Amino acid sequence: MRRPTGPPPDAPVLPDQPDWSAVFGRPAPLHLEIGSGHGGFALGFAAAHPEVDFVAIEWRKKFAEITWARAVARGLANLVVVGADARTEAPRLFGPASLAAIHLHFPDPWWKRRHFKRRVIDEGFAHLLFALLVPGGLLDVRTDVEDRARDMETLLDAAGFANEAGPGGFSARPEGEIPSSREKRYLAAGEPVWRLRLFRPR
Ligand SMILES: C[S@@+](CC[C@H](N)C(=O)[O-])C[C@H]1O[C@@H](n2cnc3c(N)ncnc32)[C@H](O)[C@@H]1O
Repeated sequence: MRRPTGPPPDAPVLPDQPDWSAVFGRPAPLHLEIGSGHGGFALGFAAAHPEVDFVAIEWRKKFAEITWARAVARGLANLVVVGADARTEAPRLFGPASLAAIHLHFPDPWWKRRHFKRRVIDEGFAHLLFALLVPGGLLDVRTDVEDRARDMETLLDAAGFANEAGPGGFSARPEGEIPSSREKRYLAAGEPVWRLRLFRPR
């Protein structure tokens, strides 16, 4: 069983590659967020898009618990929060071509060379994310670190993603886009956000 530890105790028990339409009680487009942090995006997006079912994976158990508790308190039946490492949990929970969108916002940059292996996006994970998306599915990446944005774009381009902004380009903020908890601070301060909107080609 993988779920946030501690209360609330009613998070769903998730077997390997569950039937998500059974977990959520309906067939619906499925979105994944990796590293949901304080949960601002997951909670905001699930509320704004009741037609979507949403799985947030966050390895800091306390953050996962808080987000899950807020989802329950707000009656968001379309949001499940998993407290685990997304690098091992994503391939366990999702089959090929099962996700309509994947969101990755402000991943930890891990500056030191000896910590590079902790970065979420590496060559293998880039290929995994490509395989998990349905053809036409969206990979929504945002960061405040230009160098990391360029590194990720290169890895994801090599994995086969098509870039909405063209090779090496960054997208403008779409109208009405839900900001993540961290992103709200950058937007309020007028600081740049490097945004990749990448698609698995049809
Ligand atoms: C800088 S914070 C950004 C949080 C949130 N996405 C936002 O934009 O407000 C990065 C988050 O990713 C989480 N994280 C890092 N690596 C992870 C992994 N392999 N699996 C799940 N969560 C991870 C961290 O615990 C942290 O909460």
